[in-house]
Amino acid sequence: MATVTFDHVWKKFGDVVAVNDLNLEIQDGEFMVLVGPSGCGKTTSLRMIAGLEEISDGSLRIGDRVVNNVPPKDRDIAMVFQSYALYPHMTVRDNLAFGLKLRKTPKADIDKRVQEAAAMLSLENLLNRKPRELSGGQRQRVALGRAIVREPAVFLMDEPLSNLDAKLRVQTRAEIARLHQRLKVTTVYVTHDQVEAMTMGQRIAVMSEARLQQVGTPQSLYDHPANRFVAGFIGSPSMNFMNVTASGTGDSVVLRNDAIEVTLPEPFRGRLPASGNVVLGIRPEHLAMSGASAAGTLKGGADVVEYLGNEELIHVNAAGQDIVAVIGSEHRIRPGDQLNLQVPLEKVHLFDPESGVSLSPMAGQAAG
Ligand SMILES: Nc1ncnc2c1ncn2[C@@H]1O[C@H](COP(=O)(O)OP(=O)(O)OP(=O)(O)O)[C@@H](O)[C@H]1O
Ligand SMILES: [Mg+2]
Repeated sequence: MATVTFDHVWKKFGDVVAVNDLNLEIQDGEFMVLVGPSGCGKTTSLRMIAGLEEISDGSLRIGDRVVNNVPPKDRDIAMVFQSYALYPHMTVRDNLAFGLKLRKTPKADIDKRVQEAAAMLSLENLLNRKPRELSGGQRQRVALGRAIVREPAVFLMDEPLSNLDAKLRVQTRAEIARLHQRLKVTTVYVTHDQVEAMTMGQRIAVMSEARLQQVGTPQSLYDHPANRFVAGFIGSPSMNFMNVTASGTGDSVVLRNDAIEVTLPEPFRGRLPASGNVVLGIRPEHLAMSGASAAGTLKGGADVVEYLGNEELIHVNAAGQDIVAVIGSEHRIRPGDQLNLQVPLEKVHLFDPESGVSLSPMAGQAAG
């Protein structure tokens, strides 16, 4: 069993808190993505699993074993970094075999594992080349291969695709996903790219400022973000946010500002702060064209229209605020057009303006 469990784990570098009371359980065989902006503590968390960083407080378990004081080489993990760090004077074959030789693995065993890894990663024809004779994508595959031949209980990957160009990144992303489906080894994958997180993760742990914000499946984070940070970070283009004020009572509460007027969606009844001020969130892809300036719409003037082929990304000036909408390109919207955008009530998110916490009863799996 190779579960990985953070139990109230802290990491401090002097006064800097890099990881703040992390509680996270990664299941056996799971592909878990750690995602968040630069400096939020992703690499530090990964390095604590690897044993490359001491744990300031709390306990870290791999399987049932507390590993706080277990040296890296005894943890049965393999790590893939952003920089491939291949040995330049060795062939691909020797790069793949090197770690196993150090561990005094029998020769026949090494050959077999190197062959298997090379086949899995389509490296068979490159085994006699040196790293400088490979493309960036091929080098990263060798780095992956070097981790695979170790047959570890846990793979740790720190932004392994960030040195690759956009097309190779998409290919290698699929390759890593395929490898995981085949090997089913517990994997912790770090990225700051939410698209990578959404496409690769079975579950995603979103971090910000050293704290875990939410952990869940890609869909649960998209549908039920626990707070404004997760709502804005997951999904592209980002969710729109507007300050609105509630007025009225009972089932006729209305949320409005100068650009928008919508009925309070049923699930939020009785959940608003006393001030009546809330932050309304709506994703660009959920706004739709509407004919009339009816209730339930957002009004504004089209500012910039970005044509994307099948759809258009429209920046709308709504009472001085920039709102983004993704609309089918058949509407042929031009800059300056006055728009009424329909706000579907079932897609509305509401957040507390002070804490940023979601007011939805469905907001799931908050950290902690
Ligand atoms: N050795 C160190 N000494 C002091 N502070 C450090 C050290 N390593 C990391 N930090 C700090 O800890 C915090 C978390 O760093 P970490 O490298 O884990 O971030 P990250 O989420 O991986 O960011 P990035 O996406 O930029 O790689 C940052 O504020 C960083 O400056
Ligand atoms: Mg990092």
